[in-house]
Amino acid sequence: MTESPQIEAWSRLRRHLEQVRPLHLRDLFADDPQRFERFSARCGDILLDYSKNRITSETLRLLLELAKESNLSDWIERMFRGERINSSEKRAVLHTALRNSSDRPVEVDGQDVMPEIRGVLERMETFVRCVRDGEWKGHGGDPIRDVVNIGIGGSDLGPMMVCEALKPYAAQGLDVHFVSNVDGSHIAEALRRIRPETTLFVISSKSFSTQETLANAATARQWLLDSGAGREAIARHFVAVSTNRQAVQEFGIDPRNMFGFWDWVGGRFSLWSAIGLSIALAVGMERFRELLRGAEIMDEHFRRTLLPDNLPVILALIGLWYADFFRAETHAVLPYDQYLHRFPAFLQQLDMESNGKSVGREGRPVAEPTGPIVWGEPGTNGQHAFFQMIHQGRKLIPCDFLLPLRGRHGLDEQHRMLSANCIAQSEALMRGKSAAEAREELQSQGLGAEELEELLPHKIFPGNRPSNTIVYPRLTPQTLGSLIALYEHKVFVQGVLWGINSFDQWGVELGKQLAKGILGELRGAAPSGSRDCSTAALIRLSRQAQG
Ligand code: F6P
Repeated sequence: MTESPQIEAWSRLRRHLEQVRPLHLRDLFADDPQRFERFSARCGDILLDYSKNRITSETLRLLLELAKESNLSDWIERMFRGERINSSEKRAVLHTALRNSSDRPVEVDGQDVMPEIRGVLERMETFVRCVRDGEWKGHGGDPIRDVVNIGIGGSDLGPMMVCEALKPYAAQGLDVHFVSNVDGSHIAEALRRIRPETTLFVISSKSFSTQETLANAATARQWLLDSGAGREAIARHFVAVSTNRQAVQEFGIDPRNMFGFWDWVGGRFSLWSAIGLSIALAVGMERFRELLRGAEIMDEHFRRTLLPDNLPVILALIGLWYADFFRAETHAVLPYDQYLHRFPAFLQQLDMESNGKSVGREGRPVAEPTGPIVWGEPGTNGQHAFFQMIHQGRKLIPCDFLLPLRGRHGLDEQHRMLSANCIAQSEALMRGKSAAEAREELQSQGLGAEELEELLPHKIFPGNRPSNTIVYPRLTPQTLGSLIALYEHKVFVQGVLWGINSFDQWGVELGKQLAKGILGELRGAAPSGSRDCSTAALIRLSRQAQG
């Protein structure tokens, strides 16, 4: 049996697809000079232009019906109200509470969580000020010059992406580094560039049981001790961010140097919690609060705006239209903003760990394709790498372009070039170049008949390739907060429409489990007789090489 309680809406959309498929975006624009006004929406200073999508007003109407039949508005309320909508883990989903700056209480099981949230923010504030002002000293009395965040997944990608994005706001004289991979080269390279006496390690792990993070943290601790520092130095050089007080203590970090958060904050939604400590250290607490404020603006928009004008809902519906009806398998995110160069990587976890599932909330297979493969690189780099495929390949690849209207560097002409490229790409994808246009162009270049016919098929661009463009004045902490929350809510909406729980991640467990057994064998345990010959051979090779 499959899960698709909104069968009616799905079949209406399926019938509608046959009307939309033959339409070309070029004609839709030619027929409707108001198309941009009709298909664009705003939240604060963020503008979403979704007019270059293969949709009509009827498509949107039907998609909105699907949203209604899926009780989307109820689900949104249930999340904000703190219901345990993460059903397989029996947890509330309340990253929105972390950015609630109002007096509104947010309750989990009748308990207001806001006082605790404010308490942690205040502790962060004091700590961040001490470190940035040089009051917090290393064991030798020197101020901190380098912060190393050790974490992985949500305990790395979010803070790292934000620190990269907000580089223009970062303090001089305090460098923030990120170490995530269990591959020892990651931490080895980081340690080569810093001094133990002036380094603060922030061990970030919701569970404080993640293999990679604990291994890197142990290496860092040993490095400090090997430098001649006594064990008491650990308290000056290690702080932890976690929900697991006991494990933090067992590792040797003083619980007074621990910043807590709660099980209702999912790993990939945690940069707003104390997991954002490295962000606050980099840019200061005031900027961190502006980031939270930006997310709060998007939260309010998401909660209060009618579905047809609701940015996360529009993005989600359009994404679903391509994934489930056009059967697009991937989605490209293309920031024309170098500061957002890690945004696609962050979105990969956000989207793919949330919606890369094939079983619905009730444990039955999901009827339709779920979350897409998310990928991307900043423009204009991508243009010289993979855009060929987006323009002329066989696959339909819906794209999101992100464009700041102004740069932060004073190189105005370069910003003009960047903007021109971004706008040109979405235009080219939409319009394409017809055979007649390509022919005319080749003729004007004076090509002989034979050569022209040979070249012509390669010069045609089919066009009709969809994209969204998200425009904002410039990348400030507040705008960034809104952008991240926009995608968080988009992912949640899609999960609701597919009937899946976007907040668990059981699919990461099997590999972890098997790695434990294999690690035992690499350390010398007797080989398991029950392995396939490929796995057994690879283990054998590793054992031989590593002695
Ligand atoms: O392996 C997946 C995962 O559980 C992510 O969901 C999470 O962000 C990451 O590992 C890190 O987990 P932790 O913060 O508990 O170390």
